[in-house]
Amino acid sequence: MAQLIAALDYTNAADALATANALRGCPIWMKVGLELFTHEGPSVAARLKEMGFKVMLDLKMFDIPNTVKGGVRSACLMGVDLITVHALGGERMIRAAREAIEESAASGGARPLLFAVTVLTSMAPGELPGYGEDLPGLAADLAAGGQAWGLDGVVCSGHEVETIKRRCPSLLCLTPGIRPASGSTDDQRRVMTPAQAVRAGSDFLVVGRPITKAPVPADAARAILDEMEKA
Ligand code: C5P
Repeated sequence: MAQLIAALDYTNAADALATANALRGCPIWMKVGLELFTHEGPSVAARLKEMGFKVMLDLKMFDIPNTVKGGVRSACLMGVDLITVHALGGERMIRAAREAIEESAASGGARPLLFAVTVLTSMAPGELPGYGEDLPGLAADLAAGGQAWGLDGVVCSGHEVETIKRRCPSLLCLTPGIRPASGSTDDQRRVMTPAQAVRAGSDFLVVGRPITKAPVPADAARAILDEMEKA
């Protein structure tokens, strides 16, 4: 069964925790990303863990191997459940991230799932110089490399899940760019509805604005959970 992750893309902890609090007890993960983490630091993730949620720390690390290893080591100290790096960081960077996780686990610390972003779901074919129209092909190539380098999963669009799972059966797929059938796609380009993403075989659906900008965020999240269950 696919899991829903609510992207708490708020500036302030109070707003993020209010949405999370209203969803206590629901089968849902919380995502702390750049906006919230940069403003509030690690304490929000700690609070979400205390509330009983699994937490995705989405900092999409992309740097030299030594720096990413240090970043992942710090993320492990936060006790989060899933962290993200960029697949374009390549083999040595991803192996360094994996090493930091294994070192944390070996010393009794956290062992978060390691996911790598393939091609951002906000990217449309033709937007990435040198890669023409074949973004799904690029996403699948990056996933295939990452599978050998120690990833647990990849971040991709729902449109790429089937191909990636065929080439890399051991990888989990996490899909942002999820939009209800009616409503704006915002800056996302390679989108799917929650039901389509579940049927495509996605393991995690990440949803931000359709929840955070809804009049009652918790109701919007519950409607998506309902759609996923019925898919
Ligand atoms: O508001 P929306 O549903 O578009 O938010 C999607 C969330 O997923 C954002 O927090 C964004 O940072 C994240 N994300 C993404 N594309 C990726 C990786 C993460 O949109 N490739």
